[in-house]
Amino acid sequence: MAQLWGGRFTKETDKLVYQFNASISFDKRLLQEDIEGSIAHVKMLARQGILTQEEKDRIVDGLTGIRRDAEDGSLAVTEEYEDIHSFVEANLIDRIGEAGKKLHTGRSRNDQVALDMRLYVRRQVEETDGLLKELLETLLCLMEDNLETYMPGFTHLQKAQPTTLAHYMGAYFEMFRRDRQRMSDIRERMNYCPLGSGALAGTTYPLDREYTASLLGFAGPTLNSMDSVSDRDYVIEYLAALSTIMMHLSRFSEEIILWNSNEYQFVEIDDAYSTGSSIMPQKKNPDIAELVRGKTGRVYGALTSLLTTMKGLPLAYNKDMQEDKELTFDAIDTVKGCLQLFNGMVKTMKFRRDVMARSAMRGFTNATDAADYLVGKGMPFRDAHGVIGRLVLYCIGQGKSIEECSLEELKEISPVFEKDIYDAVSLKTCVEKRLTVGAPGPEAMKRVIALHREYLEKH
Ligand code: ARG
Repeated sequence: MAQLWGGRFTKETDKLVYQFNASISFDKRLLQEDIEGSIAHVKMLARQGILTQEEKDRIVDGLTGIRRDAEDGSLAVTEEYEDIHSFVEANLIDRIGEAGKKLHTGRSRNDQVALDMRLYVRRQVEETDGLLKELLETLLCLMEDNLETYMPGFTHLQKAQPTTLAHYMGAYFEMFRRDRQRMSDIRERMNYCPLGSGALAGTTYPLDREYTASLLGFAGPTLNSMDSVSDRDYVIEYLAALSTIMMHLSRFSEEIILWNSNEYQFVEIDDAYSTGSSIMPQKKNPDIAELVRGKTGRVYGALTSLLTTMKGLPLAYNKDMQEDKELTFDAIDTVKGCLQLFNGMVKTMKFRRDVMARSAMRGFTNATDAADYLVGKGMPFRDAHGVIGRLVLYCIGQGKSIEECSLEELKEISPVFEKDIYDAVSLKTCVEKRLTVGAPGPEAMKRVIALHREYLEKH
């Protein structure tokens, strides 16, 4: 046990208490951020004349040495320290002696940990955004290649209207694009530096908080020192955004699991992304998609946990806040892993275009278009709906599709039908005529794809 405090104590900390209190087993992940923050802090202290240039140089050298040694593995973060902040400070003092004891001037672990977590989350927000962008690239390529890959669209999981694979992938493109927007919103809102807030009430040293903030790439310093040390809103926002990403990935996974099933056979997941069964030799299971769907619960759990931890905390810092880390780290690892694997799975997946088109031709996906055809001949839509309903009932009885009926059979249902009905209800016409913005008609889709290309080039 090595502690930063002890002066006012007459007894050793109980061993179990020490372990219960310690966070180094997980906050060692913040080593880089801790060092980065400390370097900015001492640079500012020297600039303000609180430390000498020489002291600053020694401290910066020492900290850089710790970073280098930790990176090349010659320095292991050992758990005899309470947290990563104590580890770095103690190590610095070992290395450079007296000057090291001045590092913590005008700083508290409360603003230090607030800064470290913010730096870490900011970096993770950027990495999440990068992974989302890679997935968007994959989806956009699929859209470009599948403008005329017909497939059924569903409501209530019942075949509804024909659409295309480009259109279907476009729906997910929109979702993940919004997820990226959430990343940039979070980054912008969180990008203020808490360092210099001290324990809760600032400090009496003449710190230049603007300078520290600019050294660390923040837009400026935070404006209330109590809020600064007890704000974890940005972590909650990030976890909420991660939960939404998982919700999107989970829905997409569910589709892929269905499409990959023996019943659908719309897609075939690549061997590299499938697993077998220990007993049933014929099996090729969509485990990756299932795991992504399953891990969603775990990320929601992190969000719920932190919201609950924060809800009863009076100002300012409370130790409860140490609980912000483990589940957040787990959620970040989970989402990043899922995004990477999911992207690889979608990229290598084979779409069975013939099966999809055949499926779109079955199940009366063109019934709306048949009704619209009658409307085009002057019939009010409500009447047309009734006529086509009777036609569908007839077809079900005969085991045929609308286009398999002869003109005589059709005229029997309504004399309004003419020869041009066959073209009107063909899959190609049904899709091609849907030209409103956002619809699957290839000409409409091309305009949307061009907008998406431009967006990915710029952002
Ligand atoms: N390990 C602590 C945390 O993660 C660091 C801050 C400790 N501050 C304190 N006053 N005990 O929150």
